[in-house]
Amino acid sequence: MASSSLFVRLAFVLLLTWSSYAQLTPHYYAYSCPKALPTIRSAVKSAISNDKRVGAQLLRLFFHDCFVNGCDGSLLLDDTSTFIGEKNAQPNRNSARGFNIVDNIKSAVEKACPGVVSCADTLAVAARDSVVLLGGPDWQVKLGRRDARTASQAAANNSIPPPTFNLNQLINSFANQGLSQKDMVALSGGHTLGVARCINIRDRIYNETNIDPSFAKTRQSNCPRTAGSGDNNVNPLELQTPTAFDNKYFKNLINKKGLLHSDQQLFNGGSADSLVRSYSSNSDLFNKDFVAAMIKMGDIKPLTGSNGEIRKNCRKIN
Ligand code: HEM
Ligand SMILES: *[C@@H]1O[C@H](CO)[C@@H](O)[C@H](O)[C@H]1NC(C)=O
Ligand SMILES: *[C@@H]1O[C@H](CO)[C@@H](O)[C@H](O)[C@H]1NC(C)=O
Repeated sequence: MASSSLFVRLAFVLLLTWSSYAQLTPHYYAYSCPKALPTIRSAVKSAISNDKRVGAQLLRLFFHDCFVNGCDGSLLLDDTSTFIGEKNAQPNRNSARGFNIVDNIKSAVEKACPGVVSCADTLAVAARDSVVLLGGPDWQVKLGRRDARTASQAAANNSIPPPTFNLNQLINSFANQGLSQKDMVALSGGHTLGVARCINIRDRIYNETNIDPSFAKTRQSNCPRTAGSGDNNVNPLELQTPTAFDNKYFKNLINKKGLLHSDQQLFNGGSADSLVRSYSSNSDLFNKDFVAAMIKMGDIKPLTGSNGEIRKNCRKIN
């Protein structure tokens, strides 16, 4: 009896490991690397205690990984003389940060269990841990992703939405990934953390009318009007608590204090207004929908079974 149920369990684990149609599961490393999750959590914790801005960086890296041919660690590959990766694609160049932190986390995981845990999973867990450690909701991350042996700069240019998008373009961009308008609005709440560069907000703070004038003026002090000057100066996406995960981002939108053009599109007299109002007054609802959408985003086109590899160093294929 006991041995047959053990057999069934083993067969099940093998099936999960080898089937290329395998589903992700929260317990994927329960037998192969039980230390994986605590190791990632403690590495993220120490990185964030050094610098709270790291949480935003890791969360965004996960988004930019998942939107480009799935959550497969492709974003983490470095360019070489013979390989063009995603790091210098338009949305990432001079903008995506935290790769060194991912390296540190992955090294800790490699020490605990060499060659077992993918970079894609490491990033998925690190993004969740960042949200938790900065005061946001907790959830179980589905695991079992493998790492890509390729990357696509063209797909990174084309699939990650730019801040110039209007509401319909944002909805379409997320729909292309199988994500709903609700997912899009909830995930945009990630902009409760982190910063944007002057180059991405100049048009909005100097030229747009659906913006609180005193808010625009304050932002202008760190972002000169002239293109080319101060392009990389950063401003917090959410002013009051830029390193705390909360629903103030949505309150800001209602007050016309969205920093990006795309942010304010979510509350500009269109179909997303009512959801923004709900999230601004109900942080439990925001947290619940954010978690559901993060899980959905984490499910985008994972490599499983014998596809891809478990990269040792997230910057290069084995
Ligand atoms: C809805 C479409 C989205 C657009 C158009 C967008 C655009 C941007 C832009 C332009 C920046 C500033 C980059 C810079 O100036 O260097 C940014 C930062 C950021 N985004 Fe998004 N984003 C979107 C969705 C998301 C999602 C879904 C997440 C995660 C759930 C996310 C998380 C972040 C974070 C945390 C930062 C700050 C990064 C840092 O401080 O280093 N964004 N985003
Ligand atoms: C992606 O965009 C960058 C910056 O605009 C550009 O230099 C690069 O050629 C683009 N890559 C591809 C493959 O389209
Ligand atoms: C504001 O709009 C005008 C007219 O379209 C344009 O010429 C100018 O470059 C814009 N200014 C900024 C700071 O984007």
